[in-house]
Amino acid sequence: MTASAMAAEFDDVAGWTADAVEQLGERHAIPATCRGSASPAALAWLAEACDLSAGTRLLDVGAGAGGPAAWAAGRFGVRPILLEPMPAAGRAAARLFGLPVIAADGRRIPLRTGSVDAAWCLGVLCTVQDKAAVLGEIHRVLKPGASLGLLVVVARRPRVFPAPDGNHFPTQRELLASLAGAGFELVEQTGEPGAAPLSWSRRAEQVAAVVATRHRADPAYALAAHQGERFTHLFASGQIAVRLIHAVSGPAGTC
Ligand SMILES: C[S@@+](CC[C@H](N)C(=O)[O-])C[C@H]1O[C@@H](n2cnc3c(N)ncnc32)[C@H](O)[C@@H]1O
Repeated sequence: MTASAMAAEFDDVAGWTADAVEQLGERHAIPATCRGSASPAALAWLAEACDLSAGTRLLDVGAGAGGPAAWAAGRFGVRPILLEPMPAAGRAAARLFGLPVIAADGRRIPLRTGSVDAAWCLGVLCTVQDKAAVLGEIHRVLKPGASLGLLVVVARRPRVFPAPDGNHFPTQRELLASLAGAGFELVEQTGEPGAAPLSWSRRAEQVAAVVATRHRADPAYALAAHQGERFTHLFASGQIAVRLIHAVSGPAGTC
């Protein structure tokens, strides 16, 4: 992804979102900051698949402003560690949820080998060209046999048009090959996570409306909105789809 589009979509908007949540109230925080997942049904599927429980040390790679990790902490009692390269997004997660955030890239995770109980990586891989590097690092820091929950936007054909700036959607086949190459064994997957209820989506929309009112004139807002419109078109035309995946860490892979 180009630096400006990425900064607009994942950094500027994350900071603005945290400001808007502080105006509207903390019940808006999780719905507004689940950008990759956007649905409690998807999070519940991943949490149950990964068998999360109280005390599980859950690494969320590309955690954004922290909604999914905060949801898992609140519902399942996990101890999240967030990893996020965008500074304003990391600050937003710390400010809204008080969660520990490592400012780092998923291709170089500053954690010890075999130190993490479970990992999530939600809505991230399609923004990363070198998926093998990210998956390889997640495999390295996970304990043997530990669970990885993925939410991935996959391409349903070899080329999608018009692609949002900098996105590299893998096909289903490419994604599974990357997982196996990094040393993961697929357990199960689904393409039907279930829509968010109105009680959730309305709160996210209220936050988005405050952000729009305050920042509509900002070029970064226009850039992020343009990315969002392209995503909407690609989903509506059936060119891309969401996959939820549960895999476990097996012996080291081929990459
Ligand atoms: C669509 S957002 C999803 C955020 C969050 N996982 C969620 O579900 O709400 C994608 C996130 O991936 C992060 N990201 C992009 N490239 C990354 C990389 N190389 N390593 C770690 N995170 C990355 C972005 O900064 C952004 O926060």
